[in-house]
Amino acid sequence: MTLSSIVVPTTPFEGQKPGTSGLRKKVKVFMEKNYTENFIQCILDALGDKLQGSTLIVGGDGRYFSKQAINIIIRIAAANGVAKLIIGQRGILSTPAVSSLIRTHKVLGGIVLTASHNPGGIRNDFGIKFNIDNGGPAPDSFTDAVYDLTRQIKQYKFTPDLDCDFAQTGVQTFQVDGRDFVVEVIDSSENYVTLMKQIFDFEKLRELIKGTANRPPFQVLIDSMNGVTGVYVTRIFVEELGANPDTNVRRIIPLDNFGEIHPDPNLTYAKDLVDKVKADATYDLGAAFDGDGDRNMIIGKRAFFVTPSDSLAVIANNLECIPYFKSNGVHGFARSMPTGAAVDRVAAKLGKEMFEVPTGWKYFGNLMDAGRLSLCGEESFGTGSDHIREKDGIWAVLAWLSIIAHKNMSIEDILTEHWKTYGRNYFTRYDYEECDSNDAGKMMAHLEETIADPKFVGKEYSAGGKTYKVKQADNFSYVDPIDKSVTKNQGIRILFEDGSRVIYRLSGTGSTGATIRLYADSYEKSNVTSDAQDMLKPVVEVGLELSRLKEFTGRDEPTVIT
Ligand code: G1P
Ligand code: ZN
Repeated sequence: MTLSSIVVPTTPFEGQKPGTSGLRKKVKVFMEKNYTENFIQCILDALGDKLQGSTLIVGGDGRYFSKQAINIIIRIAAANGVAKLIIGQRGILSTPAVSSLIRTHKVLGGIVLTASHNPGGIRNDFGIKFNIDNGGPAPDSFTDAVYDLTRQIKQYKFTPDLDCDFAQTGVQTFQVDGRDFVVEVIDSSENYVTLMKQIFDFEKLRELIKGTANRPPFQVLIDSMNGVTGVYVTRIFVEELGANPDTNVRRIIPLDNFGEIHPDPNLTYAKDLVDKVKADATYDLGAAFDGDGDRNMIIGKRAFFVTPSDSLAVIANNLECIPYFKSNGVHGFARSMPTGAAVDRVAAKLGKEMFEVPTGWKYFGNLMDAGRLSLCGEESFGTGSDHIREKDGIWAVLAWLSIIAHKNMSIEDILTEHWKTYGRNYFTRYDYEECDSNDAGKMMAHLEETIADPKFVGKEYSAGGKTYKVKQADNFSYVDPIDKSVTKNQGIRILFEDGSRVIYRLSGTGSTGATIRLYADSYEKSNVTSDAQDMLKPVVEVGLELSRLKEFTGRDEPTVIT
């Protein structure tokens, strides 16, 4: 059938500014007439001449509104001269899977439909993110250009009669304005599973999970939190590695509202998993992922918690257990600024380059492309390597299982050994979600003023019997070592003489109000097995006092502590 595109007049919407990781709004906002259409058209326009005849990957975590959004993307892409879309079956692709597909097929980029760890369903969040040809999130220069276009848009191109079913795999070809337009619907997990098999020794992992004559099965409890990873967990853990579908995995059917839970793998929102592993000593490892599969949480027996900052350091210290790094070599390491510095100590010992970047995965991509970065992570439950350009939840669990299989030690013993060698960076983050944006802004302005005072450095603050002397304070800014781009205002840091620090940022991923994040950490050489919350209480108190957070926001307690 020959189809024709049309031009639809439209007017700009305010606030289509992508945040830390794409544009996130309530579903009902994306449902407004032309809202999604405008944003998609602007992404395509920002790609310029490269768009004509290009191929794009499309998929996401399957949250509510994904199918409608994909239909819009198909009709706009066809009208704008895109030659081909590769779509995950039923629209399902994890964020790491999109990154891998972009790289495997060497295409112009991908549109990822997710609001990550934000709740889904008709009353909750939707999101759209663009990934560029290296497989990673678009840099600020690109998202800024998209935002500029959204403020001027007057029309979008559309192919109204293009009906394309993406429930079944296969290739469909349409004639649009005299050109071929191809939609290839692919299996959601095949490409990703192949990649994981190239990186890890699946035979060894299977022996671990299934057990051998000399070793009982290593009992895992893998929780997909009703998100997209269910598809991948079934393929990898159950079908490939022999995990028991009744006892070793849970919540593995992706639901468009995530079963009304908050699909964020941390001690608060994955409490259900934590409680199960705590109560049942047969479990050796618990793991959870977020809605789109890029975040991970790892816990050991009896729910022994591994902070993401420590997880990164332990993986860095044991990369020889993973075949991929044996053949590709290990270049540098990196972490986002608020992430605890445990990995820095491993880098120093191994003589590797170490980078500290702003919050957000997009800042790792250039370093990886330049061959200077192999492994990186964020305190926000993100861990990954240069196998793709996104953080990767399932990869992180397979990395841990590889280390466990190699060392034949429990998670707690691996951590304790690590801390005995390197000392321990205690870390915590307090989140104050959905504060009033004005209040949060005032608090940040107050902090700016505080640190601007030339007498601030040297001042002393006390809490819980400890005194902290300010050594340095700034608003973090970053110069990309590769393209020299500068990113400013990435969080206020107050560093104390004893090596402790407190950091304040406003979240860039929420969809309503402002979320204040307060990060605190400290380093102990020999006192390594204390409770992190106890250890950090004094510095957190100082942090609260300095910011006057309670006074500005009226909040007595954080909504989430990790
Ligand atoms: C949060 C995390 C950040 C992560 C991002 C996307 O961003 O803090 O590390 O990269 O989600 O998963 P924020 O809401 O703090 O801007
Ligand atoms: Zn995510």
